[in-house]
Amino acid sequence: MTKFKRYTVTTALPYANGPLHIGHLAGVYVPADIYVRYLRSVNKDVLFIGGSDEHGVPITIKARKEGVNPQDIVDKYHTIIKDSFNELGISFDIYSRTSLPIHHETASEIFSNLYEKGEFIEKTTAQYFDVEANQFLADRYITGTCPHCSYEKAYGDQCESCGTTLNATDLINPKSVLSGNVPVMKETKHWFLPLDKYEPWLRKWILEEHKDWKPNVYGQCKSWIDQGLQPRAVTRDLDWGVKVPLEGTEGKVLYVWFDAPIGYISASKDWSIKTGKDWTPYWKSDDSKLIHFIGKDNIVFHCIIFPAMLHAEGSYILPDNVPANEFLNLENDKISTSRNWAVWAHEYLAELPGKQDVLRYVLTSNAPETKDNDFTWKDFQAKNNNELLAIFGNFVNRTLVLTHKYFEGKVPEITSLTESDKQTLIELSLFPEKIAKNIYTYHFRDALSEMMNMARLGNKYLTENEPWKIFKTDVERVKTIINISLQITANLSIVAEPFIPFTTAKMNSILNFTALKWSHAGRGDLLKPQHAINQPELLFEKIEDEVIQTQINKLQKSKEDNVVNNAVTEPPKKEITFEDFAKLDIRTGTIIAAEKVAKTKKLLKLTIDTAFDKRTVVSGIAEFYNPEDIIGKQVCLVANLAPKELKGILSHGMILMAEDADGKLVFVSPTQMVKNGMIIK
Ligand code: 2FM
Ligand code: ZN
Repeated sequence: MTKFKRYTVTTALPYANGPLHIGHLAGVYVPADIYVRYLRSVNKDVLFIGGSDEHGVPITIKARKEGVNPQDIVDKYHTIIKDSFNELGISFDIYSRTSLPIHHETASEIFSNLYEKGEFIEKTTAQYFDVEANQFLADRYITGTCPHCSYEKAYGDQCESCGTTLNATDLINPKSVLSGNVPVMKETKHWFLPLDKYEPWLRKWILEEHKDWKPNVYGQCKSWIDQGLQPRAVTRDLDWGVKVPLEGTEGKVLYVWFDAPIGYISASKDWSIKTGKDWTPYWKSDDSKLIHFIGKDNIVFHCIIFPAMLHAEGSYILPDNVPANEFLNLENDKISTSRNWAVWAHEYLAELPGKQDVLRYVLTSNAPETKDNDFTWKDFQAKNNNELLAIFGNFVNRTLVLTHKYFEGKVPEITSLTESDKQTLIELSLFPEKIAKNIYTYHFRDALSEMMNMARLGNKYLTENEPWKIFKTDVERVKTIINISLQITANLSIVAEPFIPFTTAKMNSILNFTALKWSHAGRGDLLKPQHAINQPELLFEKIEDEVIQTQINKLQKSKEDNVVNNAVTEPPKKEITFEDFAKLDIRTGTIIAAEKVAKTKKLLKLTIDTAFDKRTVVSGIAEFYNPEDIIGKQVCLVANLAPKELKGILSHGMILMAEDADGKLVFVSPTQMVKNGMIIK
């Protein structure tokens, strides 16, 4: 701990295309804030950095959908996100944004520096281009049929139906999202960071010198490195982002994952401009400790790519640690922005006002430090009622009330110490170090539970000594008991501050003393005899079932809305004429044989009796129906569709299916049995 003179603590810059949710908070921002608050309490020099990540394709897609500029999108969410952080007490020294000129300058400079050193490989590759829109297409701007599962709306980077990662060129029948046209291939030049060249260095730096990183982080790095690193393109054909600072590169920007981590540096410069302090030691001095707080999906960028960039640049320090967390689920389901399955920070703050610390506490005690974890509203209620309220709040409240009741709100003196008092004071003195050690090694859950154990110590002390029973007979003894209880309370206000800062601020104001630093914690003489304390107020309130039920209902509703929305999310296709429709020959038919297509998960080979023939149709319904269950089923069939080969089988037509809200395909069939081969019109 002594090796470092200062700390540079960064938190993943959230994309400014949506609000924050509890997954972000639990994974990154709450642990980082605990760490930083602790460092400040031990008088360390810390620069705590946050900011919005305002570039990248998803932002441009959202802007297009909403018919506004990308800048409008990022302005809106930057404000929402920044306000949420602020209200939750995430104590950044700077919350910056990557659309600022200082960021564009900084990212350009680093790119130019690497370019001039000859670090990049220049490559011309063929990429999809939309002639009508006159632009190259990012992978997300291309849809087509997945070559693996035949899902027709797969994106150029991934099929959302079967989850396979794709290249845009893998798609069958690719189409541009911009114009709906078939894109053409066109050559374009890009710059690549030769990760393969840095591999020996990365292997040594991470795998040998950073064995101390969390197993999930180290393991992911090892697996990337062992698979062999490839050069990575750091530029894109896009008109939103940091312009490539080279001649003749119109329409090209830096890849968002090239510029975003540089955002930490530009945020530090932004801080420097605003405060007049020097940012350079935080990034350029070997005695600064750089720590990146991130979620597990960002590991490769922070452990491999960004360090490789900085290493190639040469003048910056590298991270000492990257304590990435796993993911937080919600009510046993993955948090999903598109399905609105989330607890949104700004909504929580509005609907449960004054309960910032409850959320901070619950998210820390449930933090996905070593594995994915689950947030449930019932558990939230239980942690508030049975821990914060029943243990912490109850102890502090009893102590304060008794001080007022017996001693007119003045701290009584210690008259004499029993063996058990001495034991309690010893136990008290051991907590700060245990908590500190856990925080310093990124074990925030353990740190929190030790903090709670300190409150338990207080509760146990009061309960065992029962001052209310002996006040009349032994006031001298009660003085000591209340004094010790007050000392424990004062200690709690120091060690609980990183976790529940709103509560400890309240405690300090009731105790009528200025917040003390960590070095004071552990002592039994923080409050001097005769010191007057203020009237107590409750630190936590009981959360009733109705409050929890409202939140559960809200989630339930979002599930139902999602069902309804899903049904209408697809806008109607382009209008067609009756003649167009009449070209379709849709007939009734009956499935007379069905079998799975080998080596596929989704496909069934069906034989359909149409009365005028018996034909083979390959259909993507194997996930939902067993072959034997659908024999005899009457279906509707597009009978004049040109035959198409799927997995080596020629499919003659397509049966009509409707997709339900969960993505299940259900048969569209006549409601009464009709003859096969009848025309549907
Ligand atoms: O995953 C994300 O939300 C990214 N916006 C994180 C960027 S972290 C850093 F590089 F800025
Ligand atoms: Zn697929």
